[in-house]
Amino acid sequence: MTLAPAPTLTVTSYQRRHLQPIRDLLFHNIHVHSHLDWVDSDQWLDSGDTITYLAWQRGRLVGVLGLSAPLNNSTWIRIAGVSDFMSPQDVLPVLWETIIPILKTMGVKIVGLLGISQWMTHYAPSLGFRYGEEIITLARADEPLPPALANPPRIRVAELRDISQIAAVDQAAFTPPWQMSFHDLRQAYRIASSCTIAVENDRILGFQISTFFFDGAHLARLAVHPSSQGRGVGGALLRDLLERYNRRGIESMTVNTQSSNHQSRNLYERFGFQPNGYDLPYWSAVL
Ligand SMILES: CC(C)(COP(=O)(O)OP(=O)(O)OC[C@H]1O[C@@H](n2cnc3c(N)ncnc32)[C@H](O)[C@@H]1OP(=O)(O)O)[C@@H](O)C(=O)NCCC(=O)NCCS
Repeated sequence: MTLAPAPTLTVTSYQRRHLQPIRDLLFHNIHVHSHLDWVDSDQWLDSGDTITYLAWQRGRLVGVLGLSAPLNNSTWIRIAGVSDFMSPQDVLPVLWETIIPILKTMGVKIVGLLGISQWMTHYAPSLGFRYGEEIITLARADEPLPPALANPPRIRVAELRDISQIAAVDQAAFTPPWQMSFHDLRQAYRIASSCTIAVENDRILGFQISTFFFDGAHLARLAVHPSSQGRGVGGALLRDLLERYNRRGIESMTVNTQSSNHQSRNLYERFGFQPNGYDLPYWSAVL
């Protein structure tokens, strides 16, 4: 295919009337990156809480770059797309250079990029991103459970009113850019197949959120407040979860974690999870 020569592009911020051209761009072109865990691109753009810029050439949409609302000075590239008639090298830097000053004004220091699409990681270094580590997937089949604690914490199904405390636990347990916002956790809760919490005197010590995934389940989030870690709370949440799914006839489960997260890897491996080789690179740009 012959690509157009280096173009003169016009960059605008996202407006609701751009939804259809963005849909067309994302659905009909090869260079597309979508890292939206809990929503589709329409819902995400409609949330009105994104940093999304569009590149136009002669009135035609040729590129889009969208980042999530910053949380604790960090954000993620969530959507990117470039028309097949253009080179990403001509479009992405124009969008990125427009967005950087906006991010700086908002106090953003770190931008994460999950290498879901190879083309995006190919261009990532030219945008100032550096490779960080692999996000690995661990899988568990029908393994026996390790022995239970003598005095496990109380575990109950979470309710909508628990989400603010869950968000506080999440943001204490994870560091930027890995924390989730209240808004994202509420959305995750809505579509989860299971969300449970470990409680002590009405205080939430830890939580898990999981979803059905093919014929098994996927543990999407597990966190314990740092003041309660190492006491078996994470293990108790995991055991309870595996038993809940077992009662529903679901025996296989997957989970993702950073390859450097030894605390979580030890816990998962103790419960019979093993890396399955489905790894994705994490990249980041420091502004
Ligand atoms: C990963 C995480 C959920 C584990 O939760 P936790 O409550 O600390 O987990 P546990 O206490 O059940 O197990 C952790 C360790 O404490 C040990 N432990 C368990 N019960 C214990 C007890 N009564 N006394 C002392 N240590 C104990 C376990 O043996 C385990 O050690 P090991 O990993 O060397 O085997 C928690 O560390 C966390 O929230 N981390 C930050 C967020 C995160 O990384 N989440 C997972 C990403 S996918």
